[in-house]
Amino acid sequence: MFKGIIFDLDGVICFTDKYHYQAWKKLADRLGIYFDEKINNRLRGVSRMDCLDIVLEKSTKQYSYDEKEALATEKNETYKNLLQEMGPNDLPEEVKNTLDELRKRGYKLAIGSSSKNTRMILNRLGLGDYFDAISDGNNISKSKPDPEVFLKAAEFIGEKPEDCLVVEDAEAGIEAAFRGGFASAGLGEARNHKEVTYKLGEFKDLLDIN
Ligand code: BG6
Ligand code: MG
Repeated sequence: MFKGIIFDLDGVICFTDKYHYQAWKKLADRLGIYFDEKINNRLRGVSRMDCLDIVLEKSTKQYSYDEKEALATEKNETYKNLLQEMGPNDLPEEVKNTLDELRKRGYKLAIGSSSKNTRMILNRLGLGDYFDAISDGNNISKSKPDPEVFLKAAEFIGEKPEDCLVVEDAEAGIEAAFRGGFASAGLGEARNHKEVTYKLGEFKDLLDIN
């Protein structure tokens, strides 16, 4: 039924959530801004600058564009340092085996992620050359829930949105898939979105979708 499968990265292929949380928390603590897991949940799938705006909602101070750029860079430096701990062992075996089986079945496999660190993360996981195409935070101007990142991924693998399935863990990602004309498979909180096409219990359930 589908010709291509487009995977979100963070929360689908690997679990960088805890590092994002720690890095935002460190920044918020330094600025004296309240930050917790609940606020962190709103950051899933959202671009770095949009995340910063959410983190700064609790601040009484107004920040200029340049100050915000510096804060986003500061967060990213902390995040990248934390990512140094990541290696091929952080790629779950279930994910790798499922990807291999989907590839064997003839699907084109692409990444559609808001992250500008996508290539570095894929390299650390040992997946640097694995995907047929990578669409990420570096080739888009609008972040999820805008469909741009998935439309670009479909274009890169030469398939139409209706022939591709998007796999997501964020509600913003399911929204993006829906707006772009893609079917979607949701893991975790993404299962709650009213427009999700398939609800997955675990990653390998993708093998039951034809
Ligand atoms: C998404 C994450 O994949 O990438 C978001 O779910 C994150 O939480 C976004 O903000 C941007 O990531 P980065 O690595 O470019 O800061
Ligand atoms: Mg995600």
